[in-house]
Amino acid sequence: MKFPKDFVWGSATSSYQIEGAWNVDGRGPSIWDAFCQIPGKVFNNETGNVACDHYHKIKEDVVLMKAMGLKAYRFSISWSRILPQGRGEVNEKGIKFYSDLIDELLANNIEPWVTLYHWDLPLALQLEMDGWLNKDISDVFAEYAQICFEHFGDRVKHWITFNEAWVVSILGYGQGVFAPGRISNAEPYLAGHHILIAHAKAVKLYREKYQFLQKGKIGITNNCDWREPLTNSKEDKEAAERALEFFLAWFTDPIYFGHYPKSMVERLGERLPEFTREEKEMLMGSTDFFGLNHYTTMLASEAKEVEQGSVYGNGGLSEDQDVNLSMDPDWELTEMKWAVVPWGCRKLLEWISERYNYPEIIITENGCAYDDRLINGEVNDIKRVEFFEGYLKECSRAIEKGVNLKGYFMWSFMDNFEWASGYSKRFGVHYVDFNTLERTPKTSAIWFGNFIRTNS
Ligand code: GAL
Repeated sequence: MKFPKDFVWGSATSSYQIEGAWNVDGRGPSIWDAFCQIPGKVFNNETGNVACDHYHKIKEDVVLMKAMGLKAYRFSISWSRILPQGRGEVNEKGIKFYSDLIDELLANNIEPWVTLYHWDLPLALQLEMDGWLNKDISDVFAEYAQICFEHFGDRVKHWITFNEAWVVSILGYGQGVFAPGRISNAEPYLAGHHILIAHAKAVKLYREKYQFLQKGKIGITNNCDWREPLTNSKEDKEAAERALEFFLAWFTDPIYFGHYPKSMVERLGERLPEFTREEKEMLMGSTDFFGLNHYTTMLASEAKEVEQGSVYGNGGLSEDQDVNLSMDPDWELTEMKWAVVPWGCRKLLEWISERYNYPEIIITENGCAYDDRLINGEVNDIKRVEFFEGYLKECSRAIEKGVNLKGYFMWSFMDNFEWASGYSKRFGVHYVDFNTLERTPKTSAIWFGNFIRTNS
């Protein structure tokens, strides 16, 4: 495998999944705090109240990062820790927490990559303004972003506005399986629209007021699985293309071309809002890199009969796409029942490169859940090592083929709260005992550490 010398090797987490300390030092509640309180929404009715208690363990965790040789660490800021009501008064203790974390990382030569929104919207904004359904929230987001640029931008050189607008829109406003738990076939497209505008506003602000001084980069991270046509038929090839458009191009075409994909415009009619001229201009080119989270692959075929409201396999709202998804029975599955298909990652990287003219791509998440066990002080997660090896090989092949891939962050740095799955799915390269909160590096952490050392 060959990677450029300046390649960014990192690992990622998100605030609600690891921090805990949900009501400590002035933090306000988020929609995930509320969602977890509703019996039946999360496996075992678990919550992120304590999670990995990272809030109280930043020194210990940075020591583990350093031991792995990580060059970069991607984390997200809990909006309601900074602004307990989402806007208005700033919580200085929240500012101090992130400021200390950033200092600790830099003191250990680890670059902070900061995500502003990884799903934990301040609850006050959900109650007062219906969250992402309200257009005005884009200004509220930009104000929050400004506070972050102001306080941390002297040290943070990589910003990500949003993590996975698709998940927020589809799982939060379409299927209702993630906070805020709404079920609708129109709201996802409205929420997604407002997220895009919020992203563009924050980027505009950063570029106009901070970028020339702070010299950082700003972008957005979107998620996409690969969709391989089930057969060679024209219909299935078109179905796979359409599925990718409804997944990824939904959020990236507006940024690169200023409009939504034609397939979406044609099929969604009035459910898909339009951008004003000013918004289009603001969106175009509003990312300095292409952040990508990638986990799996499915086969796509033209749907003769579409299951209404089908939620199968991260398909989005299938009835809008006329796509059926399936899996090759030979594919190995992870604990999430996601297939391990490394070549799908390369194909997706190539698809992005061709569609968007070879942008700089950063894989901001890639990883897998397994049923890891701590035995005699060790966690032998050899399956995870094989997963990373397979995916990294295909990344290296993609680079050989001209893909401008510049970084890779493994998900996740440690086992954490896996949203609606609670603590039942372990994605981390560090094993966390959720009773004692003790961390143990898994075989994969040791392997990745060696990999970084030999590849940089
Ligand atoms: C991503 C998400 C992460 C993590 C991961 C594994 O969609 O950004 O927070 O949960 O999936 O499911």
